[in-house]
Amino acid sequence: MMRLYSCIFLTLYTIVTILSDNVVATRGIGKPKGGVWWYLGVTNAYRNPARDRRAKDNTARCNIPYLNKKQRQLCYKDADLLGIISDGAARGIEECQSQFLERHWNCTIFNTTNVFGRVAKLKSRETAFIYAIQSAGMMYALTRSCAKGELRDCSCDPNIEYVRKTSNFQWGGCSENIAFGHKFAQKFVDAMENKQRPSGHMNLWNNEAGRKAIKSNMKLLCKCHGVSGSCSIKVCWRIMDSFKKIGTNLKDRYDGATMVKLSRKKKILKAKNNRLKPPTKTDLVYLVDSPSFCEKNKQSGAVGTTGRLCNMTSAGLDSCTILCCGRGYDSYIKDVVEECKCEFIWCCDVRCQKCRFKVEQQFCK
Ligand SMILES: *[C@@H]1O[C@H](CO)[C@@H](O)[C@H](O)[C@H]1NC(C)=O
Ligand SMILES: *[C@@H]1O[C@H](CO)[C@@H](O)[C@H](O)[C@H]1NC(C)=O
Ligand SMILES: *[C@@H]1O[C@H](CO)[C@@H](O)[C@H](O)[C@H]1NC(C)=O
Repeated sequence: MMRLYSCIFLTLYTIVTILSDNVVATRGIGKPKGGVWWYLGVTNAYRNPARDRRAKDNTARCNIPYLNKKQRQLCYKDADLLGIISDGAARGIEECQSQFLERHWNCTIFNTTNVFGRVAKLKSRETAFIYAIQSAGMMYALTRSCAKGELRDCSCDPNIEYVRKTSNFQWGGCSENIAFGHKFAQKFVDAMENKQRPSGHMNLWNNEAGRKAIKSNMKLLCKCHGVSGSCSIKVCWRIMDSFKKIGTNLKDRYDGATMVKLSRKKKILKAKNNRLKPPTKTDLVYLVDSPSFCEKNKQSGAVGTTGRLCNMTSAGLDSCTILCCGRGYDSYIKDVVEECKCEFIWCCDVRCQKCRFKVEQQFCK
């Protein structure tokens, strides 16, 4: 009898979990649930001078609706974290838009608390990229702040001495402490996810892939010392590569992302097509095929490509043929005014003329 009950309970529990997964996917946006710390990247709602003045402690400053309980607890320890979260989120959003400028889905953002609208809940490749780039943005911001000495409880990488060297130099300066950035970002970002759900597994995987992209894109910065530039002593330290480089890396991972499913028995993600090689920890994974982003679609959150600027002479994804999805385009002549024929006038002025010229631009129908 006991077994029967627990069996029924388990089945119900599973149904509820699956249902609630779908509820999140279709409930619409605006509720502070799922991905909401991203909102600090588009609003300065976390800066509330009146509240901050009244706030006796961090608790008041950190109790903002875009953070969940675990995230607030991290914030209580150091309220400066709010600025860093905001910086990390903004970095991710900006890079997402720049990487997808020419695509059907151009990383459209909305004035909603989950920023990316329904696309963030689709469990598609786009969702995978969003999670990875936001997670990377957070780790990047944390690591940078740490190196600048803006954060308590962290310092330059103390273990750098043990990193294998390939050429002749001394470690010195401040090597960025990615171990700290990784650990802290993981605590903060992964706190959003529920491992009972397939989408939770997917998001955690992509969050980690985002952090791994930073780890595999470190570079060396060196300074020469010695008599008259002889460079007899070379001192180097390790820093993260530009965030653009990390974005490009993740965009490549987006193009090669693996469709996965959650294995029921072991609760791990496996390639859906078992003839494909299993995804590695640096790969992005997704659960559901992407919808078409050609036309506006309320259900998927696609805004369509109507009105997008396309390039008639390009053979790439921004070509009018591809970007406009075969609907054709309208051409407009635009007047452009630019400063030109600039002259240097002694001393110290630059005078320019205004030149007018016309450019033809194409926009998707
Ligand atoms: C976004 O929404 C908030 C709250 O609804 C509003 O105060 C703010 O002005 C909006 N921002 C933009 C850019 O529309
Ligand atoms: C993305 O596309 C939408 C819809 O066509 C457009 O309104 C928006 O300005 C584009 N965003 C960027 C960053 O280019
Ligand atoms: C359009 O594409 C061509 C070929 O790729 C490129 O040379 C040109 O700069 C592009 N024009 C614009 C406005 O981006």
